[in-house]
Amino acid sequence: MTDAFATRAVHAGTPPDPITGAIAPTISPSVNHVYDPESGGFSANDVSDMTAKPFVYARWTNPTVRMLEQRVADLEEGETALASASGMAALATLFLGNLRAGDHLIVSDVCYPGVRELASQLLPGLGIEVSAVNLSQPEALRDALRPETRLVHAETPCNPILRLTDLHVVAEITHEAGALLSVDSTLATPVATRPLAHGADVVMHSATKYLNGHGDAMGGVLIGAADIIEPLRATWGVRLGATLDPRAAALILRGIDTLVPRVETASRNTLSVAEILEASGVVERVIYPGLASHPQYDLAMRQMDLGGAVLSFRTRDVIEDARRLYRNLRLVRYAVSLGHQHANLCLLKTDDLMSSTYHLPQTEEEEYRIWAGNGVLRLSVGLEDPDDIAQDILSALEP
Ligand SMILES: Cc1ncc(COP(=O)(O)O)c(C=O)c1O
Repeated sequence: MTDAFATRAVHAGTPPDPITGAIAPTISPSVNHVYDPESGGFSANDVSDMTAKPFVYARWTNPTVRMLEQRVADLEEGETALASASGMAALATLFLGNLRAGDHLIVSDVCYPGVRELASQLLPGLGIEVSAVNLSQPEALRDALRPETRLVHAETPCNPILRLTDLHVVAEITHEAGALLSVDSTLATPVATRPLAHGADVVMHSATKYLNGHGDAMGGVLIGAADIIEPLRATWGVRLGATLDPRAAALILRGIDTLVPRVETASRNTLSVAEILEASGVVERVIYPGLASHPQYDLAMRQMDLGGAVLSFRTRDVIEDARRLYRNLRLVRYAVSLGHQHANLCLLKTDDLMSSTYHLPQTEEEEYRIWAGNGVLRLSVGLEDPDDIAQDILSALEP
């Protein structure tokens, strides 16, 4: 019998310690584990069966990190997972492990800026060709695919405009072309969307966000079939050395214990804040997948069990309003991260993103500006009372 999602979110990967009976995950700081020289356990190329000889040297994995890997693999309905020191480390492992000189990567034209900069500014120097494509338009993906395309990397909802990608459609087109589909599902969380069930090959999370949920640990995870994930561990996972610290793994596991009620509450709160801001007359546009005004609301209803806990909004003068918010907010923190128990907000200025990161051609930039105007104020809603959060923002915006 398979337990329900909420039960697995508390129990998966963390049985009581077989020696001590401890229920809380044991933080294992040991770098070394005794191994049998006959077992061949120290071969970097032989990490395919983690259950037979899981622990040798902590850069491969570690007992506490392994509990986290098993928990997230279970929640995303994947066979296995690889944890890294940050979301960016997970993405670097994914890209470097799957792509060689001459290969082609398609990345969502709008996504977390660090991902887009890694793909578009660093990978070409290694001989990897990269195309940035609006993955909400299947035709654009079809046009961009080449015989050398190895990987398509999507992000849904995408940071910062919360545009969605239809994963079923994109998976089908990607697979027809013989490529793999990876999905950054950080903003959705496994509570809202499980991309592997929609046809993706790899799911990625910045565990720094909702999985940890409290803003006190960084981490990243990649989840998928063992024949995709374990070769990544054996190559770039081990060689890059961006290993997750077991203490951070324990904090992230502690966070996942409350993932379901946190994301459900924060998502409900976000819908309330979105409705208040939309009705206020102060805000020019609110973008939130859970609002009927979202241009892809039907897709959100099909693909997401919840609207998530990030909304973006813009005002007539977002640049001056960002200054006002920074000066006047009482509860919401003016800060870049998201997915924590408390609300954070910051401005993502369109001109800055275009010149530093996205470099979109004119028609795509115009399309982006239909969503974002001169910039969006991205609000990560927390567990506070939604009326307090909406009121804090509206009061702070008063001239
Ligand atoms: C959607 C998304 N992906 C990836 C990352 C990178 O994760 P990290 O900061 O843990 O490296 C972030 C961080 O903000 C993010 O929002």
